[in-house]
Amino acid sequence: MRKARLAVLISGRGSNMLSLAKAAQQPDYPAELMLVASNKADAGGLETAAGMGIETLALSHRTFPSREAFDEALSAELKARQIEVVALAGFMRILTPGFMRDWEGRIVNIHPSLLPKYPGLHTHERAIEAGDAEAGCTVHVVTELLDDGPMLAQARVPVLPGDTPDTLAARVLAQEHRIYPEALAAHVRNMVAKGLAGAVKAG
Ligand code: GRF
Repeated sequence: MRKARLAVLISGRGSNMLSLAKAAQQPDYPAELMLVASNKADAGGLETAAGMGIETLALSHRTFPSREAFDEALSAELKARQIEVVALAGFMRILTPGFMRDWEGRIVNIHPSLLPKYPGLHTHERAIEAGDAEAGCTVHVVTELLDDGPMLAQARVPVLPGDTPDTLAARVLAQEHRIYPEALAAHVRNMVAKGLAGAVKAG
């Protein structure tokens, strides 16, 4: 079976990256993790990935004159490695329209809320403050809008009495690690079935 070439973009500890990396080690997983890239050199996930023998790349956005310049450099790094699909996993940057044009339909994201509820930050705090009975996470295809785009999977957890943003985050995170690899695999299989896999043209 040919595996699609996957890159994971992170900015932090990379626990979702790790769940994707482990899944991708399975022989029947439809993607192979070729690169873990971060806009932060000190992202813990880079070390985790390197320890698993996965290529890593730190590309600091601070060294680029503009958002567009950073995204162009990132896109070029992905194309140079014939990446076909990109998974955002705690990547704390909004991608530019230019990047989105290059990678349309090929980028997926995990967000720690039941979208369309609570796009953006502090999702668990907001769910608790609103008195929600349920919280959860969503895997979706990335579009130009923040935390928007066709939904691939969702998981729900209860909000329990006495929950803090941290206790709720931990309950949700366990579900993130479960649904992200599954949803990504389904998306890749769908891309392949529709003839949408294959490398993105350079330039
Ligand atoms: C996760 O909660 C993810 O949903 C959100 O950022 C967090 C990243 O955690 N987008 P990790 O780096 O994968 O551990």
